[in-house]
Amino acid sequence: MTFEKYKNEQIAKNYGSTLARRKALCSFDMKYIQKNCQDASRILDLGCGTGRHIVVLGKRHRVTGIDISPHMIGLAQKAIKKRRINADLIVGDICSMNKLVKGKFDAVIMMYHTFGSIVPKSKRASLLKKIYSSLKDDGILIMHVHNRHHIKNLYFLYDTFKQSLFRSDVEFGDKQIKSGALQGVKIHFFSQPEIVNLLKNTGFKVIDFLKLAYPEEDRVIKGPKAALHTGGFIVKARKCTKK
Ligand SMILES: C[S@@+](CC[C@H](N)C(=O)[O-])C[C@H]1O[C@@H](n2cnc3c(N)ncnc32)[C@H](O)[C@@H]1O
Repeated sequence: MTFEKYKNEQIAKNYGSTLARRKALCSFDMKYIQKNCQDASRILDLGCGTGRHIVVLGKRHRVTGIDISPHMIGLAQKAIKKRRINADLIVGDICSMNKLVKGKFDAVIMMYHTFGSIVPKSKRASLLKKIYSSLKDDGILIMHVHNRHHIKNLYFLYDTFKQSLFRSDVEFGDKQIKSGALQGVKIHFFSQPEIVNLLKNTGFKVIDFLKLAYPEEDRVIKGPKAALHTGGFIVKARKCTKK
């Protein structure tokens, strides 16, 4: 299974420098989550990495984090201990989250393209159903994903489309990582309608859809320019129980 590669220690060791290069996005998404989770009592962080959200949210909320990498969770443990924060940190596959956590949450976050590491699309649909079930009525999901229609992705779009026609194991939007510790791992890049439809089909109501300007992703863009200049999306969706 390719997601086993996420357990590589080197990825966790290098993750601090990856985040340092994405400082702008990290500060933007942190502020967004703090603002939108103010009233949340319990928060679940899926694919929590080294715990950058947990160390902040854990001061005011009861937070649970899940990550497949024991090394990422190890670093998150160290970070919360240093700040004397209590949080439940779990090593495990978010696709089995229903077996890993008990009770319901006010908010679930899944940031910095963690959702794109879930392939194929049947697993993403199943994960969203589990997230939906884990939320209290009117609970919210906030996630960040990469946009496949950015202008820099034109060759990738051609390539992934061509491959999806001829290979049963490639879906339109899938990208194979070519080098580094995650070599061979497939990640999925999204379009706006794809994300919106997935969420709606699960029963969520999309209440905010931010198009973030590439490359910093710390600014929202609107209008015609957004079509080809959006690096990633931040999406906020509410669990709707009323028909
Ligand atoms: C790009 S990092 C994002 C980390 C964190 N959410 C952030 O915003 O900094 C993606 C994380 O998802 C984790 N991950 C990938 N697939 C996973 C899975 N199936 N179950 C649990 N964690 C997973 C990786 O180990 C990694 O820590």
